[in-house]
Amino acid sequence: MSKTAILEIDGKKYEFPIFKGSENEEAIDIKKLRDLTGMVTLDPGYKNSGSCTSEITFLDGELGILRYRGYAIEDLAENANFLEVSYLLIFGEKPTAVQLDKFENDIRKHTLVNEEMKSILDGFPKTAHPMGILAAMTSALTSFNPKSVDVENEKDMYCAVCKTMGKFLVIATWTFRKNMGYPMNYYDNTKGYVENFMRLMFEIPTEPYKVNQTVIDALDKLFILHADHEQNCSTSTVRMVGSSHAGLFASISAGVSALWGPLHGGANQAVLEMLEEIHNNGGDTDKYLAKAKDKADPFRLMGFGHRVYKNFDPRAKIIKKAANEVLATLGVEDPILEIARKLEKAALEDEYFKARNLYPNVDFYSGIIYRALGIPTDMFTVMFAIGRLPGWIAQWKEMRENKEPIGRPRQIYTGSPLREFK
Ligand code: CMC
Repeated sequence: MSKTAILEIDGKKYEFPIFKGSENEEAIDIKKLRDLTGMVTLDPGYKNSGSCTSEITFLDGELGILRYRGYAIEDLAENANFLEVSYLLIFGEKPTAVQLDKFENDIRKHTLVNEEMKSILDGFPKTAHPMGILAAMTSALTSFNPKSVDVENEKDMYCAVCKTMGKFLVIATWTFRKNMGYPMNYYDNTKGYVENFMRLMFEIPTEPYKVNQTVIDALDKLFILHADHEQNCSTSTVRMVGSSHAGLFASISAGVSALWGPLHGGANQAVLEMLEEIHNNGGDTDKYLAKAKDKADPFRLMGFGHRVYKNFDPRAKIIKKAANEVLATLGVEDPILEIARKLEKAALEDEYFKARNLYPNVDFYSGIIYRALGIPTDMFTVMFAIGRLPGWIAQWKEMRENKEPIGRPRQIYTGSPLREFK
């Protein structure tokens, strides 16, 4: 007999099915709740609500497990490359060599960004944050690619996927070039995706660009670690916007805006700024730990805590190791890394952090690697966005293919009763 849940309201009992996921996660299926009882649930921040079923990513916060399409994140970070993982997330299976080759070539067909996009870029002040520019430019892609908006069949979907993968990377790096006053440049279709990222960022017309394989490998790994994280704030936003049948670019643009916030992807920038501040103020980590614990102080230890991981963030473990390796290989000695280590150790031994299961998250060490690679702090969240792109696309595609209904939560009104306006 399948398991059910009984809800009793005013002496009347209602029975609801229990839905079981493929990893035995259980959920009370309340689809009929309002019809049967006239009531809705109240769950701010969706801490207890599953908004969808998904076959893409499995996450167990208690055990610190993260898997894409059944493959452990540790396995993928070690053995796959970013485009392979992107294909896996978006299309459901690991690509064969032929499929991967085709995917990469199809992305290359869409790496040219309309020249008129540059005039939009010109309109932003030099001081604009790259995430704001990226959100606007991604949305603008809709106007230049109107055919990619109505995705009605598999072919259109595939084309929209390749277009997004190709053009997003270019405009993401243009946000940096604008700030630097560099001329905008072009994707080199003879080179790989991650190598192109570095070229697009740093290559200048006056001198040849030398590729550093350590850097490319580290970035590849970082992008993989960020590629998907089930129904986080930005991904839920992408699915929500897409559920109104808005196009892929518009949905991704909304995801970029959601990611920008310091409680989400913006945390990687906030972590580095925090570590720099501690360093500049003499390196007193205890003082900042005390601030983080003080409820009267809005300061939080950035890069610590997670809505879902309550034991450790498996991505943070891999990134910490990678940070040590990258800095050692590049011969970079960064006092900020020392501050991070000291802060992490102190927090992990502290009762406040232990009692609340607060551990370093993915953002705690990623910024230290970005910094070592010469990526400026305000580009950190853009790096996160580039990594998260295939996840957003995969989730959007799944939502459309599952023909999910428009996302539209209920609320409980707590405002004024009817009054007269005279
Ligand atoms: N520093 C100090 N106290 C904290 C922190 C922190 N970083 N994180 C949580 N707490 C405390 C919080 O004050 C609360 O205490 P109490 O129970 O006494 O009121 C308790 O821990 C639970 O926190 P919460 O805010 O209810 O937890 P949440 O699940 O709503 O928030 C979070 C999760 C990630 C937003 C939060 O831990 C946070 O703000 N962390 C810092 C920002 C950060 O690093 N964000 C990146 C998240 S990982 C990458 C990503 O998803 O983009």
